[in-house]
Amino acid sequence: MPTLIELGREARGCVACPLAAGRTQVVFGVGDPTASLMFVGEAPGREEDLAGEPFVGRSGKLLDRLIAEELGLERRECYIANVVKCRPPGNRDPLPLEVATCRHYLEEQVELISPRVVVTLGNFASRTLLGRSEGVTKLRGQSYPFLTGVIVPTFHPAAALRGGGVVLAQMRADLVRAKHALAGTPEPSADV
Ligand code: URA
Repeated sequence: MPTLIELGREARGCVACPLAAGRTQVVFGVGDPTASLMFVGEAPGREEDLAGEPFVGRSGKLLDRLIAEELGLERRECYIANVVKCRPPGNRDPLPLEVATCRHYLEEQVELISPRVVVTLGNFASRTLLGRSEGVTKLRGQSYPFLTGVIVPTFHPAAALRGGGVVLAQMRADLVRAKHALAGTPEPSADV
């Protein structure tokens, strides 16, 4: 197993799928390599492709705010990555071939970081990491055993930006669940 730095270097030179041709930068991941809490999104957007860092656009600003307000943490204290490391053209969903080619990076990241809690952001990350076909609306509201910890599925911050108050309140509740899972205290049973 490579180190996280070696894995990042490998990803930055990756040309294993067609997304390599259209990218500005590989967006491998950012944050504390020993974090207890990891966030996983879908794929880089335009701003992330330019910056080489996940969740730096509007969704990222909201994510940073929720991490601070609900978990009392700063972004740099967590680890943030995406399922797919290169930007799909026009922000379309990644194709099955692209996910199949790229997912070993995420799997190795999760193994190397070994977080206690992985928060999956949106349908795509939640389905991919849980291996389930239901959407996040169905999957959220509980945690799922995963490697040495749990997965807590929640909405993508872009959905909260679009959907407003109810989605945002549900995201906040999911992050409270993640906080309890991190602390080892009983997770709330009641759902928003
Ligand atoms: N949306 C994602 O899923 N990931 C990012 O890094 C940015 C937006």
